[in-house]
Amino acid sequence: MSFTVAIDGPAAAGKGTISKAVAAHFGFAHLDTGLLYRAVGQRMLMGEEPIAAACALVAGDLEHPDLRTAEAAQAASKVAVIPEVRSALLDFQRAFARRLGGAVLDGRDIGTVICPEAEVKLYVTASDRARAGRRHKELVERGRHISFETVLAELQERDARDQARATAPLKPADDAVLLDTSDLSIDQAVERAVAVIGVRATRA
Ligand code: DC
Repeated sequence: MSFTVAIDGPAAAGKGTISKAVAAHFGFAHLDTGLLYRAVGQRMLMGEEPIAAACALVAGDLEHPDLRTAEAAQAASKVAVIPEVRSALLDFQRAFARRLGGAVLDGRDIGTVICPEAEVKLYVTASDRARAGRRHKELVERGRHISFETVLAELQERDARDQARATAPLKPADDAVLLDTSDLSIDQAVERAVAVIGVRATRA
């Protein structure tokens, strides 16, 4: 039986951490769909045309060591505006969502476009300052010298682009459960997500 959990939200809201934890809790497979766009963005940074890059994407691209950099994030957000890039990545995501045994997908358009029929939809968000604070801490721990203000500005620029694009913009699905993690610890946020999913899973 398939069971799809769609988790959307802006950058650094905690989607990735929550998705991994709930996938482990329920024994579901997990796909971080942002990595697909980051891999296309990374190929673009290396000189490839984005649509051709999206069509040629292979599993090995997702292992590229630079995919977590701020440059790859901005490049991902830029290629994600191109409708042909999005459609080249669609079938893979839908097939993943419907695999047997359950799947968690996190991204920007999972509940609205990729899996409108998902059994559970969560929209994870947090204040701009809370999100920028987390991302800043992460970068500093990795040895980057970058100011909080720069991180905040980059994050807001990326969110604005993701929300304003014509195709599959970032927004909550009408039937998504909202989870604001601004004042929650990781454990509390995961606990709430597990509770929402658990209720639906017992009904399925
Ligand atoms: O989740 P992330 O920060 O790794 O995503 C990087 C960029 O990829 C994000 O700014 C927009 C794009 N993206 C998207 O358009 N649709 C998705 N489902 C996932 C990511």
